[in-house]
Amino acid sequence: MGKYGYLSSDGREYVITRPDTPKPWLNYLSNEKYGCCVTQVLNGYSMADIPSGWKVTERGRDLRPGKYVYIRDNDTGEFWTANWDPIQKKGQSYRCRVGIGYSTVETKYKDLEMSLRIFVPLKETAEIWTLTLKNTGKKKRNLSVFPYTEWLLFDDLVAWDVYGWYQFGFYEKETRAVVGQLTHPTKTGLKLFGYMKSLRKESGFDLRRRAFLGSIGTFNAPEVVKSGKCTNSTCSAEEVVSVVQNDISLKPGEAKTADFLVGWGQKKERAAACNKYNSSKDVEQEFTAVAGYWNNIISRAYVRTPDIEFNHLVNFWLKVQLVQTIRWQRGFYVGYRDVLQDARGLVTLDPAVSVARVAEAMAFQRQNGTAVRQYTADGSGRVDDRDYKDSPVWMVYAVAKYIKETRDLKYLKKNVKYMDKGSDSVYGHCKRTIECLHRERGPHGLTLIGWGDWNDGLSHVGRNGKGESIMLAEQFVVACKDMIFIAKLKGKAADAKLFEKWSGEMAKNIQEHAWNGSWYIRAFSDNGRPIGTPKDDEGKIFINSQTWAIHAGLANAEQKEKVFKAFDTLLDSKFGPRTVFPPSTYYKPWIGRTTLTQVGFAENGGVYCHAAAFKLRADLLEGRGEQAYQGWKKLHPLWLDPDETKADPYVFANCFHGKESVLAGETMYSWLTGTAAWMFENATDYMLGARGDYDRLLLDPVVPKSWKEFGIDRFFMGVMFKISYHNAGGVNRGVRYAEIDGKRIYGNAIPLSAVKKGTKEVKVDAYM
Ligand code: GLC
Repeated sequence: MGKYGYLSSDGREYVITRPDTPKPWLNYLSNEKYGCCVTQVLNGYSMADIPSGWKVTERGRDLRPGKYVYIRDNDTGEFWTANWDPIQKKGQSYRCRVGIGYSTVETKYKDLEMSLRIFVPLKETAEIWTLTLKNTGKKKRNLSVFPYTEWLLFDDLVAWDVYGWYQFGFYEKETRAVVGQLTHPTKTGLKLFGYMKSLRKESGFDLRRRAFLGSIGTFNAPEVVKSGKCTNSTCSAEEVVSVVQNDISLKPGEAKTADFLVGWGQKKERAAACNKYNSSKDVEQEFTAVAGYWNNIISRAYVRTPDIEFNHLVNFWLKVQLVQTIRWQRGFYVGYRDVLQDARGLVTLDPAVSVARVAEAMAFQRQNGTAVRQYTADGSGRVDDRDYKDSPVWMVYAVAKYIKETRDLKYLKKNVKYMDKGSDSVYGHCKRTIECLHRERGPHGLTLIGWGDWNDGLSHVGRNGKGESIMLAEQFVVACKDMIFIAKLKGKAADAKLFEKWSGEMAKNIQEHAWNGSWYIRAFSDNGRPIGTPKDDEGKIFINSQTWAIHAGLANAEQKEKVFKAFDTLLDSKFGPRTVFPPSTYYKPWIGRTTLTQVGFAENGGVYCHAAAFKLRADLLEGRGEQAYQGWKKLHPLWLDPDETKADPYVFANCFHGKESVLAGETMYSWLTGTAAWMFENATDYMLGARGDYDRLLLDPVVPKSWKEFGIDRFFMGVMFKISYHNAGGVNRGVRYAEIDGKRIYGNAIPLSAVKKGTKEVKVDAYM
């Protein structure tokens, strides 16, 4: 049991035991169209059409005002909040169950047990709040309940003064919904609606914030709650909220449930949702359906290792984090490279959604192979066109992974538009990527960096069109490997040959120009200055050009040894490898924005978990099972001190402040990070070593020697492979043979031909 909570014994819930977590600890709840982000006290906001972003409810920086459910004892006049905040009643016990697809706050105050659960249904653009009250005392209780939410209904934060002018609120008889409305001030003719419906018959409502709070009322003591009676206010040209009142009496020992539908939508959508949910039975049915969705995702890859916490993280939380990350992306824009990495990670769990997102991104590639940095998914066509040269390379990885997992060669023929003009097959798009990265090379024959590569902050290395990225050059080599494989599958021998040639040339150029004797430099600036050398006073060594040299298989034995030594001696820290050493303390115009970032933070010497995941992959590729396992332990907040990391312990964070930062060890941003996709693949495909390889399943685990018996259930090509590894000799890597259906197969790959047609599940024993 940790100071703030614990992972439940089945791993499916993180139970937070006190409300004052070091930071808001979040849960993301969503379907493809709607989502909410809730804290440990159910503060937070809701969004529709995520990620392109209509903020449905108010969103302050501190995630307040939140979703408040006030409870009033009508016999004494005393009141408090079921979700604990904002009243924070003295003597009210507290617990939050952070679940897969829901969050529940359970509290108790003066013989009344309260549970408030929020979840998002599978389809509707809505969320459902379920409040259960139980009288554990000896007296009858007469209570009133006032759920509250404040509408924003807009695509960004706007000053309230003017904004209020466009707001309106009304009670809709047909649906019994208490509806907030915004007439969009710039998109003429567009009206947006948020609503709250009480499934029990309400005894009153309010729409005008001022009426609810009172002229000097606060969220700690709203006038309506004090008086015990909603005013049935409507609203015009002021802040619009929704409150519905339920009067509930409870005999001793009695429990009752009240459900509230809170959503977003035009009349038709609203009416459909309101019609669908009429009773707690309807709500519970949907809640079970949501659990079913998650169980399906969860079942597709299931690990069994001696480390139970590791199992729980991989089997549940990493998957949830990955799905939420790809749904929410990072804000208004969809990051091109981000969505493609997330899609790659998602292939095993949900191939249909994965390819759909890849196709969406592909349509923002131009005929010349380049692609945008970010795009909008709302059909507006708005893009962020900064010339980040790495954008298209990630597409190849996502497509290759999909093909290796599904053998769906037809997909390669699918026609997808270019952003400027014309269209091409998926294969054609990927080919243009390779051609573009080959064409756009600089003075050393290395890939140009433009405005940056994976590292957004290398913003001024190549603005004049000459700067080169070693990381991207290495990524090109990896992409070529994938494309050679795909071209051969398609019978395009000439393409395969060409990609081999280009990749060989690039590899040679990297080895010749980017190896400085101790490690790989990171880039060449526009004027040819190498970035990341022992001679530099700051920024001597950068992480990504080392890790990707390993991914690309470029480093020879001596180079590998030096690179791993540099990781251990220069980059490593208590929380894993930092992005750069030493961080910049002054602006370097030949590098750019990263040198302006706070010292020791993010790309400037923080532990960027996404980059640390690249490092973990390098360890795994090299069979370094102990280091990979230690890498997990250092990076995941579950195993760290929450007072130091401040992080939600069930998900990866985006980054840690590095050693040199004044906030060393603290994390920034949880949940939405490319780390999830990479760590998920690291776990299932590389540590547990079960990865699809077109017509065979590779069995190539890389684990600590102490793991003697472990395994993975892995869905591949319609078959559930239940793999048990036997590592009696205690090695880090190396399957010698496997037994499947009593047949022995030597080596570490199971050809699909070894599985009888029609088999749905097969047991494999692999011996290391
Ligand atoms: C942010 C961006 C990601 C980028 C990373 C490093 O996480 O979303 O695209 O690669 O920063 O700069």
